[in-house]
Amino acid sequence: MKETINAIRGFKDILPRETGQWQMVEETARQVFSAFGFNEIRIPIVEKTDLFKRGIGEATDIVEKEMYTFLDRGDDYLTLRPEATAGVIRSYIEHSLHAEDAVTKLYTFGPMFRRERPQKGRYRQFHQIDAEILGIDDPRIDAELILMLMHFLTAVGLAGPKLEINSLGCKECRPVFRKMITDFVRGKEEGFCPDCTRRMQTNPLRIFDCKVETCREIMTSAPVVLDALCGACRDHFDRFREALTIFNMPYEVNPRMVRGLDYYTKTAFEVTTELLGAQNAVAGGGRYDGLVKDLGGPDTPGIGFAIGFERLVALMQAHDEDCRCRHGRPDLFIAAMGEEAQGMAFALCNKLRLEGIRTEMDYAGKSLKSQMKRADKLKCRYTMIIGDQEIANNQATLRDMQESRQAPVGFHQIVHIKKVIKGEKPLD
Ligand code: HAM
Repeated sequence: MKETINAIRGFKDILPRETGQWQMVEETARQVFSAFGFNEIRIPIVEKTDLFKRGIGEATDIVEKEMYTFLDRGDDYLTLRPEATAGVIRSYIEHSLHAEDAVTKLYTFGPMFRRERPQKGRYRQFHQIDAEILGIDDPRIDAELILMLMHFLTAVGLAGPKLEINSLGCKECRPVFRKMITDFVRGKEEGFCPDCTRRMQTNPLRIFDCKVETCREIMTSAPVVLDALCGACRDHFDRFREALTIFNMPYEVNPRMVRGLDYYTKTAFEVTTELLGAQNAVAGGGRYDGLVKDLGGPDTPGIGFAIGFERLVALMQAHDEDCRCRHGRPDLFIAAMGEEAQGMAFALCNKLRLEGIRTEMDYAGKSLKSQMKRADKLKCRYTMIIGDQEIANNQATLRDMQESRQAPVGFHQIVHIKKVIKGEKPLD
């Protein structure tokens, strides 16, 4: 036997037994997001590297060390997208979507790529459900977007999601906060890891994100961004919280949450659950009022979130039998005995498939017993046996395995069989 080739570390297959659940999550997202006025956008997986450098920020972990970047035949540096927001905004600007309506609400699903250290809940290729609202800076929109997110998470059966919020200020107050942090860490340099020592120069806010215990310890007494907010940002934050209260939405203010991307302004949020362990964020997002302009578009405010598909599904796995039942269960299994019966089954099987009935048969000429065993294993609701007798009578017995009932049906009665199987007509 030849040596096998396995998938790359951190790249995971989503197997047929899992895809039913993924489809259910996608369908629910489409329904919920549509009720809130969102339309789908599909964007490329590969973009010019500069888009992410400018969009996410050069001094972020993502851009510094996690992007899959390559030189495309010596012409351009290209990157497998590490997130969707930058690409959505690029497309929004490129196609002047702002000219179509003052407010644009977009969602997209798809794979993202980050070269992080793989572990449970953290992959190098993972999937996001991403939603963005462009063109409105009213703080009530921030609450409305979160209402949609939490409603969706509950609708797919996620138990106990916890909402954490913060404000990250704007271009007026962020420099003030940056100085407060720089002043705070001065004289404490020795206690920090080499990464944080570098971050002090490049992006002091990122120190809050460091996982190293000694750095975390020092940062527990650091000033927080809420201490530095300007009047406008404080007012936005207060009104955002008021709107959450209107929805009776429980939340916690986490003043140390800074998010891993640099485009955020004002509102930032994360949804966590204790069940996920170290990788506890199932979703994250926030406002980015400067991003459209930074990427060359008009001065347009924006806010959005992304949900980690794998993390969400892992949390649902325990209790979602229903979705897994969708997996590969034929409506009907036709067992055929003998060559002529095989021919009849082959024609009937494919006629029914063209009518939308998921039908299976055996092509290997196995014994009746082994064919029925397979039908049982596949959990088919209906079976039909075709042998010499049935061919002579031009009809076979359709059996409802669940109800233990059966009735004869003619081979030509395709519409009748279809209606019975679809539950539109009684069997007998
Ligand atoms: P993010 O917090 O980097 O935000 O990612 C959002 C979610 O994607 C995380 O909460 C997590 O569930 C999932 N995720 C991230 N990295 C991985 C990974 N390596 N493996 C598995 N899941 C992962 C963003 O990406 C922003 N673009 C969200 C946003 C949209 N902000 C505004 N609009």
